[in-house]
Amino acid sequence: MSTEPRRVVIFDTTLRDGEQSPGCSMNLEEKLEVAQALVDLGVDVIEAGFPIASPGDFEAVREIARTVRGSTICGLARCNEKDIDRAWEALKDAPDARIHVFLATSAIHREFKLRMDKDEIIARAVEGVKRAKGYCDNIEFSPEDAARTEPDFLSAVVEAAIDAGATTVNIPDTVGYATPSHFASVIKTLMNRVPNIDRAVVSVHCHNDLGLAVANSLSAVEHGAGQIECTINGIGERAGNCSLEEVVMAMRTRSDYYHTTTRINTPRLVPTSRLLTNITGMQVQRNKAIVGRNAFAHEAGIHQDGMLKERTTYEIMRPEDVGFTHTDLVLGKHSGRAALADRAKALGYHLTGEQLQEVFDEFKKLADKKKEVYDADVAALIEKRMNVVEDQWRLAAFEVHAVGGAEPTVSVTLDHGGEQLSRTTTGGDGPLDALFRTIEEITGVSVTVRDFRVHSVTRGKDAQGESTIEVDHNGRICRGRGVSTDTVEAATLAFLNAINRVVAGAGQPVEARPHDVV
Ligand code: KIV
Ligand code: ZN
Repeated sequence: MSTEPRRVVIFDTTLRDGEQSPGCSMNLEEKLEVAQALVDLGVDVIEAGFPIASPGDFEAVREIARTVRGSTICGLARCNEKDIDRAWEALKDAPDARIHVFLATSAIHREFKLRMDKDEIIARAVEGVKRAKGYCDNIEFSPEDAARTEPDFLSAVVEAAIDAGATTVNIPDTVGYATPSHFASVIKTLMNRVPNIDRAVVSVHCHNDLGLAVANSLSAVEHGAGQIECTINGIGERAGNCSLEEVVMAMRTRSDYYHTTTRINTPRLVPTSRLLTNITGMQVQRNKAIVGRNAFAHEAGIHQDGMLKERTTYEIMRPEDVGFTHTDLVLGKHSGRAALADRAKALGYHLTGEQLQEVFDEFKKLADKKKEVYDADVAALIEKRMNVVEDQWRLAAFEVHAVGGAEPTVSVTLDHGGEQLSRTTTGGDGPLDALFRTIEEITGVSVTVRDFRVHSVTRGKDAQGESTIEVDHNGRICRGRGVSTDTVEAATLAFLNAINRVVAGAGQPVEARPHDVV
């Protein structure tokens, strides 16, 4: 028997299943940035979108297929000619493309959603795989809601799909219903009953409705699954998908047990997680495994004592293995450009000379206000530079007078191409509401706020506040972000950033997503 660990393919669906969940939509530029980060992370397959779902999805898959190199690029299609043709149209420029065709197989979906019997399902699955195979060799077939499909029928569908040319058969737990031993039995049944199973890679795609997506995926790997479908930070429909960072680190940390390996460059996990958080505004909880802020923080005295004596008493992974820098090195106002460049590199950012200069200028201003500048501060400054749209409106000055209980009075001055426009208003539901309304009046852009958050980037009373905001402008969603040691200023900058995105025509329409269409 070979002692070489078995390689498990990592299929990332952050840009498809992840992106379709509320609050996670991304524009083209953002999707390209995430796709490149996934290549740098070492993901084998990037599911870039669902081309038939909308012109925006089509364009994103096409651009990623045209420009991103280093991973297989995949597009999703339902089992019909129009979807499959559209998927190929978007994918055809990728040197290494995969079409992913899906069709529901469970009794509930057959009866209520598709109104098709078992024979019709098999015939449709075969037709779909054959049509896709006419375009490219690399075909994935998913029997949607497989975990709730009768084992005999699931085996028959999988066998027919492989015979028709599927090179990967993906077993989705679409509604997050499976448990680890149940899911293991689904995989074992397929391995034992499907005669041609050795001609395809068996993949798993688990949703997290019961909090078991990672456990179910690992259970499938234990029984021979060769591909895991997952997302950064576990984003996805409802409670999300299997979290990439958790499943990869579980296999790595317990390679003694799973005897598997992946191509993932694990020190890129934290920077990739931060990039996605920064783009979507969807924060991960502090105690999130692997990438949460507390994931490696030892507070209990007894743990700290053990750690000082021997790290492995309480630590099963090293923070640097997942991309937390070894020391949260403190920079200050005397630190130079070289020290900043060094930190940026260690944090996983590649900055051009011009970008470094811009970040350095901001860093100096921050170091004047704040004694110690931590890694998270540096990351926040860099990410602020990465997200720039051409700002038509800039915040020149603002003032707030708010005396407990009374209506606030705010004054705002915005710069618009060198011209300064000011307005003072009284009223509104608190100072931020008053500031946002005043900005709307000056710019003439009116929006509805869908989500608004402020949190501290590091600890301490002088910590920078980071604010993220999501606004709806005539059915288009735009996000904004602002960072400042003054949280009111951070919120004002975030709102103005969102307005600038509206003006620049950025943002995403609120549109039908894959699971909304039968
Ligand atoms: O959850 C699911 O079943 C899916 C399929 C399209 C693979 O996302
Ligand atoms: Zn899914």
